[in-house]
Amino acid sequence: MSQKQTLTDLFTNTFGHQPTHFFQAPGRVNLIGEHTDYNDGFVLPCAIDYQAMIAGSPRDDRKVVATAHSFDGQVSEFELSLPIAHSEEAFWSNYVRGVATVLLEKGMDLKGVNIAIIGNVPQGAGLSSSACLEVVTGLTLTRMAGLDVSLKELALIGQQAENEFVGCKCGIMDQMISACGKADHAMLLDCRSLDTRLVSIPTSAAVVIINSNVKRGLVDSEYNTRREQCEAAAKYFGVKALRDITLTQLEAAKGDLDDLTFRRARHVVTENDRTEAAAEVLAVGDLVAMGELMARSHASMRDDFEITVPAIDAIVEIVKNVIGSEGGVRMTGGGFGGCVVALVPQDKVVAVKQAVEQHYPQRSNGLSADIYVCRASDGASEL
Ligand code: GLA
Repeated sequence: MSQKQTLTDLFTNTFGHQPTHFFQAPGRVNLIGEHTDYNDGFVLPCAIDYQAMIAGSPRDDRKVVATAHSFDGQVSEFELSLPIAHSEEAFWSNYVRGVATVLLEKGMDLKGVNIAIIGNVPQGAGLSSSACLEVVTGLTLTRMAGLDVSLKELALIGQQAENEFVGCKCGIMDQMISACGKADHAMLLDCRSLDTRLVSIPTSAAVVIINSNVKRGLVDSEYNTRREQCEAAAKYFGVKALRDITLTQLEAAKGDLDDLTFRRARHVVTENDRTEAAAEVLAVGDLVAMGELMARSHASMRDDFEITVPAIDAIVEIVKNVIGSEGGVRMTGGGFGGCVVALVPQDKVVAVKQAVEQHYPQRSNGLSADIYVCRASDGASEL
């Protein structure tokens, strides 16, 4: 059964009538530019063909009544006319509550709705299952109230909900690509100005995502620590963000900065340069140069930023051994587990899958990986 049909069934079983509207927003994978977004830098993600979907219908009152397929059809409801509380028992609903709170704070006149939610973005894998839920919720609540809010604005609203209501200090990358992605393209995003440039992904390459299935422990605390270290480095240089310093400036300060802060900053500064360069080489279909940049990005995340884990490094090595210089592979997302992304020549996809299946378990104490061959997809939309 299609995802949309399963969603329709959940909706009608819960509310006793058919939905009137459908919306979707995709997950994402980042090709390069990691931990640069909150440093006002550059990222190069694409949206993927896995998404969160909402079916909705209007209500006569000002309640939001929501149900989620992934949580056994649990129902959670709140009133738009009263302060919206966090939910302890339905954690997933905090993304809906957070987005509604931010929209109301901005003075938007929301209407009561019944909504059912479904998603096939693997949760906790670093593919932005939360960001796409925020974006699709924003789209649903605004469109069903007849409000024309831009996709960029919805991305910012989703990020604000995650920062302030859910409590994770993420950057803007995930929500922006989920809202504004384009089929068959990656998006170079300037996380300061929010200017975007679409870069077509060569048809000769497949976007392959390999989920290590390493349980991501301490992600939030390590993420926030990295953020603080970057902010400390920016403060040392008296700039707003690490985006504002060059490698030459950083290297000149090497003796004065402590080694840890220096290496954290070096990752961000060099990653920004690599990301801008990657957009150039990808645009002309140069997968060899792209592969080199992705390899340097991975090494920088492993050695300077220290956010990879041995199982992830193993997957990167296994894939690199198959593709050689003909494509790229690196960890993607926040780190400490999660996924590896590879740009793989179409005729090597099968060999990559076989190599990971054969060699990964013995290099990860018996874990097996999930492999997704993705297509870069359009951002959020009404269906
Ligand atoms: C997570 C965050 C993003 C970004 C990445 C690292 O996905 O949500 O904002 O910081 O980590 O690049």
